[in-house]
Amino acid sequence: MKHPLIINFKNYEEISAGNALKLAESARQVAEKFQIEIVLAPPPPVLALIAKVIQMPVICQHVDDQKLGPSTGFVVPEMAKSYGVIGSLINHSEHRMEMSSVARLVKRLRKLDMVSIVCAQDPQEVIEISALEPDFIAIEPPELIGSGRAVSKENPAIITKSIQAAGLRSSIICGAGISDRDDVCRAMELGSRGILVASGVIKATPWEKKITELASGMKN
Ligand code: G3P
Repeated sequence: MKHPLIINFKNYEEISAGNALKLAESARQVAEKFQIEIVLAPPPPVLALIAKVIQMPVICQHVDDQKLGPSTGFVVPEMAKSYGVIGSLINHSEHRMEMSSVARLVKRLRKLDMVSIVCAQDPQEVIEISALEPDFIAIEPPELIGSGRAVSKENPAIITKSIQAAGLRSSIICGAGISDRDDVCRAMELGSRGILVASGVIKATPWEKKITELASGMKN
């Protein structure tokens, strides 16, 4: 994974009842047409199906710091990997974790050759997380998440400061409020290595048109 466009499905109603497969198929067609890395973060009930049927790279929205075996109801990395999942978001603003758990999970994903994408809310947290050397750190100011006001326009400095804070230890991607081509272009111009988006795609129609628009910003 080098320059991903990550679509976080969250648990939006729009992707319930089989629609997640339709969104995944739309993303697959755009990824093929534009030859860009689109990575999907569907909710757990449909992860394995999308990995198998749509053959798109899928990551977990969250994994638990629990052991493989008798850990009822938790999502553990080894199990996800065995069903074709290639990595996970960790410490998303909507599912925060203790830093000690983040550290253990980054190590565990590395050992499993799975991609770790750890979310941070500010550059100070980027410093702390970059010491763990995850593959990616996703900077997402919580106040802009779901707002439709793009981080790359509302707070470009948080992206550049995060890149400085991480140094060479981790690649920085950004998210929160991303909803059009220009938002993506700005983010990539600021040095972001990729994009994390949810409502800007999920709430749009038709999905293929919106994903194509954002993809064209990645190619800019
Ligand atoms: O994980 C991505 C997410 O938190 C950003 O949300 O809806 O602002 O694109 P949204």
